[in-house]
Parts: sequence; C-alpha cells; structure tokens
Amino acid sequence: MARIIAGIGSSHVPAIGAAIDNGKTEEPYWKRVFSGFEKSQAWMRETKPDVAIIVYNDHASAFSVEMIPTFALGCAAEFPPADEGWGPRPVPVVEGYPALASHIAQSVILDEFDLTICNKMEVDHGMTVPMNLLFGKVDKNAHWPCPVIPLAVNVVMYPPPTGHRCYMLGKAIRRAVESYPDDLRVVIFGTGGLSHQISGPRAGLINSKWDTAFLDNLSKDPQKLARIPHVDYMREAGAEGIEMVMWLIMRGALDDKVDEVYRFYTVPASNTAVGHIILANRPRASKASPKHKPAAAKPKRAAAKPKRAAARAKVDRKRS
Ligand SMILES: [Fe+2]
Repeated sequence: MARIIAGIGSSHVPAIGAAIDNGKTEEPYWKRVFSGFEKSQAWMRETKPDVAIIVYNDHASAFSVEMIPTFALGCAAEFPPADEGWGPRPVPVVEGYPALASHIAQSVILDEFDLTICNKMEVDHGMTVPMNLLFGKVDKNAHWPCPVIPLAVNVVMYPPPTGHRCYMLGKAIRRAVESYPDDLRVVIFGTGGLSHQISGPRAGLINSKWDTAFLDNLSKDPQKLARIPHVDYMREAGAEGIEMVMWLIMRGALDDKVDEVYRFYTVPASNTAVGHIILANRPRASKASPKHKPAAAKPKRAAAKPKRAAARAKVDRKRS
C-alpha cells in the first residue's frame, strides 16, 4: 500500500522564488535563507519520495475572486507554472499523478470532505517556491524529482477553513493514501506563513514567539493547534498568518507521534518570517512475531519492489 512517510512545513515567500530566478541566492541577505534549506535538500535527495502532495494556496493565479474553492485537488497530468504578472517562473512544468490524485478525491469525498476536482490548473509561487527550497533549483527543461499532487486551500478570502477542518482533512488524506494499492512512499507539504502582515498599519508584523510555539506544538500538541480560532491567527500572526492552517493538513496526515528531523527559522525574508520543519513518521512495527520476522520480511520486500518500480515506471513513461 501507499504510505505517508514524512511531512514538510515550508514558507512560500514569492521573493524567495525571485531570488532563485534572478541568481541572487549567494547574496548575504538571501544566503541566510537558502543555507537553512541545505540539510533539507540533502534529506530529500536521500529520502527519494515517489510522490509529493503539496498543500498550498493560490494567489489569484488559477482562481480569481469570481470563484474560490475552499479545497481544490489537482488531478491533471501536469500543472504549468502560472504567469503572476511578470511571466511564468522559469521552472519545469509540474508533473502530476492522476491515478493517485483521483483515488484521493474519491476516498476523501466519500469520507465526507468535499473537494473541488481540478483537471486543468496552473500553479503559482505558493507551490513552486517550496519545491525549489526542498528540491533545489531545477532547469526549466528538466524534470522535478517526483510527481506532485497539488491541493489548493482558500486562505485569501473570508471564510477560510478552520484549523480543525484542515487537521481532519489531513487525516482523511492519510486514509486515502493508505487505501491506494501501489507501494508508494509519499511526502506531504504544508506551505505558507509563518507570521506576516502585508498591508495596513500593522504591515511588517512578525511574531517569532508565536511562530516558535506553533513549530513546537506540531510535534508536541497538534490538537491544540487545531483549536486555534481564526481571530487568534489574525491578531498574533498577522492577516496573512492565516496561511498556517495549511500546515495542519500536513500534520493531520501524519501519525500521532512523529520525530522532528529538522527545523529552520529566520526573519525576515521580504516582510515574512520564514519557517521550515521536517517531521517523520516512525517506522511501523512488523506484525510478524520476532521468531518469524526474518523469514517473513524477505518475500514481502521482494514482492513490494516490483510493484513500486512498476508504479514509478508508469510515471516515467508518462514523462518521456
Ligand atoms: Fe502565500
């Protein structure tokens, strides 16, 4: 079966994408930000997930104020980078995973979480910036290291979903992934934030104390985070800090107990606090008794590999 192995929280500040695209990553201001993701990129190269689910918000690129779905799942074969006003970012087209995405849509909707299904969708910096931060810079004509299933969440127009709704959706996504028959190792991203306010008298607001407590409780007490009302995000983390509810979808999709693999926090990048965390599910105990474990493990692993290889080959064929 498919399994979520880890969750990644990452800011998606648009200026980070501009720094990558314009070759400014070595400048002292930006080096401070990018150096914080070097370990994460090494972790990602070693982990080699088969597919990533990326929870992000669209910034009036794919959806306008005329139509804003609360939760929109990308089921297409590919997602081109959106033109956000200065041309599309020079990054590869994001390749999807329609079979798994359709399975998630079916499972989650029948689990009573209503999603909008998107069979055609462009993706903006909300998704491609975290991809760069975790996968590194990828040539426009190359391929991202793994296929991606985008999940866009409305956090731009009131009312966004509650943190609790997001947390419970994460749990439904986990059930969906675990009912998919192919042996896939899946990672899930929650993106956005951390504290920031873009406009008004409080523009430039950053609340490091709030951000640190949020990062701490992702491991220690995620249910406490799920109970935070919108007004607390607005007051403590700024109007745009509401993006942090998207991290709770990622957290809900993980086990109750997780290991914090890595964390990075710096201020500011543009006018935003940059936060990043990697949380890993713990290896699950084998159901086999210790006496029989070695004998049972071998055939299981031997059977699983071709299945995963077949699933991966399907994606590779689609790419070529
Ligand atoms: Fe954003």
